[in-house]
Amino acid sequence: MSKKSRLDFMRMKEKGEPAAWITAYDFPTASFAEQAGMDMILVGDSLGMVLLGYKGTVPVTMEECITCCKAVRRGAPNTFCIGDMPFMSYQISDEDAVYNAGRFLKEADMDAVKLEGGRRVITRIKAIADAGILVMGHIGLTPQSSGVLGGFKAQGRDPKSARDLIMDARAIEEAGAFALLLEAVPPELTEFIAKDLSIPVYSIGAGAPCDGQLLICGDMLGLFQAFTPKFVKKYANVAEVETNAFKAFIEDVKTGKFPEDQHCYHILPETAEEYQK
Ligand code: KIV
Ligand code: NA
Repeated sequence: MSKKSRLDFMRMKEKGEPAAWITAYDFPTASFAEQAGMDMILVGDSLGMVLLGYKGTVPVTMEECITCCKAVRRGAPNTFCIGDMPFMSYQISDEDAVYNAGRFLKEADMDAVKLEGGRRVITRIKAIADAGILVMGHIGLTPQSSGVLGGFKAQGRDPKSARDLIMDARAIEEAGAFALLLEAVPPELTEFIAKDLSIPVYSIGAGAPCDGQLLICGDMLGLFQAFTPKFVKKYANVAEVETNAFKAFIEDVKTGKFPEDQHCYHILPETAEEYQK
């Protein structure tokens, strides 16, 4: 299957075919996602929590993101991949934002970048889009500003917050973003925004009525144990599979069941003769 482009995502929106995508941070996960036929992959800065064990996404660096993006690209050479811009890679200036967005394309062969925020980062989105880089907006629950939001909380539930998100969504489209991600907002609002905008609108925890669904691999595979948001559906329990495998290995080593003869490299017959001398 050939790699999808932004035109494919536009066509899918028009046809009402939802896109399915996950986050990935490493080579094996990316290759399994591509083999499974995932429409796109986000190398989210959630890598800080899922892969590196940070408490939030704030500490994540450009270098950590670039390293993960390169691994994902090697695993999924034919999948549309989005690099997530980490905290402080776009907050300071438009110039900084364009420079760092460009690194995702030049160094890690990403197809697009994503950054958090609406009208407050609108000149950043415009500057990146004007540089010829596909940029996805991300509003609602925005983990990099969870301190300002007062935690990892659903957004857009009251009239003012809902109106603000609609204004942000319109500004993001106007600034030249190719798509928009809504995180943890009510499905009623998601439906309104998805119909209001001409670019694809995707959901993570924002309900069904839009152009596609994203889940974090650590959540949907059951690898991330710190907490599971309400919006997650667990499709596997990799933590259990992995822990059981480790326990079985420990048990085999302690009881002498591993290794067996089939796991050993034997010496050649002439070497055996040497030993007998
Ligand atoms: O980093 C990430 O995985 C994300 C999702 C939570 C949308 O940005
Ligand atoms: Na993110």
